[in-house]
Amino acid sequence: MDRSLVGWILVTAVCSLNFISTAPASLSLQTSQKRDADSCNPLVIAHRGASGYIPEHTLGAYALAITMGANYVEPDLVMSADGHLIARHDNELSLTTDVALHPEFANRYRKQTVDGLEMSGWFTEDFTLAELKTLRAIERIPDIRPGNARMDGAFDIPTFQEIIDLVRSLEISERRTIGIYPEIKHGTHFQRLGLAMERPVVETFHKNGYVNSSAPVFIQSFEVSNLKELKEITQLRLIQLFSSNPLNQPFDQTVASTGLTYQDMATPDGLKEIATYAHAVGPDKNYIIPRTANDTLGEPTSFVQDAHAAGLEVHPYTFRAENSFLPAEFRSKDLSKEAIGDFSGELKAFIATGIDGLFADQPDVPVRIRDICL
Ligand SMILES: *[C@@H]1O[C@H](CO)[C@@H](O)[C@H](O)[C@H]1NC(C)=O
Ligand SMILES: *[C@@H]1O[C@H](CO)[C@@H](O)[C@H](O)[C@H]1NC(C)=O
Repeated sequence: MDRSLVGWILVTAVCSLNFISTAPASLSLQTSQKRDADSCNPLVIAHRGASGYIPEHTLGAYALAITMGANYVEPDLVMSADGHLIARHDNELSLTTDVALHPEFANRYRKQTVDGLEMSGWFTEDFTLAELKTLRAIERIPDIRPGNARMDGAFDIPTFQEIIDLVRSLEISERRTIGIYPEIKHGTHFQRLGLAMERPVVETFHKNGYVNSSAPVFIQSFEVSNLKELKEITQLRLIQLFSSNPLNQPFDQTVASTGLTYQDMATPDGLKEIATYAHAVGPDKNYIIPRTANDTLGEPTSFVQDAHAAGLEVHPYTFRAENSFLPAEFRSKDLSKEAIGDFSGELKAFIATGIDGLFADQPDVPVRIRDICL
């Protein structure tokens, strides 16, 4: 039986459980005492859910990640026209939904600039939540993940609250605390539309009982100003992401106008500045071990030590098992882009650098090979 079919059966089983929406308080307490989401090293953060096995940002992908033992699930958040937080990596919908097949939405197709890039398509900010709920999720990279594409149409677009409810329900059957690790996507873009996400994200967490740095929550952004603003309104932990291109600048205008790049932010002084508002940093993994000209892993940089010296945890992204994404020496002999290579080999090289967490599309593999869980 292939991997995705196994995943499908697991998710069907998980999702057919009769979720209990209000956990008895005593049970919640016992589960959090049993094993906290932060008790493993490195933390395994399921990137967009178990997106290597199920189309990304669906309740199925998050549920499978949790049953596989991930410590945190990672929803990316964008806004609907009527101010609901939903999980999508992009505000453009045709990359991961069947919107293009809906004739009733044909007239919403348009062009606009998002974070400096011209994009054509259908945008979440033009749809109400009720309209978004009529769409079905599809696989983003069907050529690399053909098994996932067989699940096209199986799931809808979840709201942020639905994800929290799923996590809370599975904490009971898993008997452990499961963390939530959202990213605020296109922060400045949505602020300009009058649909700022920062306060709604914090208010949703606070309302659900996630109130301070002890809560199993990290809020991420590639921007800087919004993280500094968030620090003023919540004690939840914040994480500064770094663009995969170190020469890029954060998109927020106040920072972009200073000429600051991610490369500057990755210096010991840059990291000290980040430590004034964030708990952790989320660099592309190449900041930690860059690739050689031959696309093999090179020598580790001092990024992890510099970040630790500044008091920051380090959670690099994104670890993926397929040849397309692996360093050359870990690719399988079958060099087809969708074949699974020696993913453990790559993970072990990074774990040896002292990272504190990692974002993976196939969270079961790092869960299996990491050795420290209290
Ligand atoms: C966080 O809040 C909880 C519940 O109110 C409290 O028990 C805990 O001590 C707080 N932790 C911190 C670090 O403030
Ligand atoms: C890269 O590949 C070339 C040609 O195969 C080889 O000569 C060279 O030593 C390799 N360099 C590294 C850093 O592995």
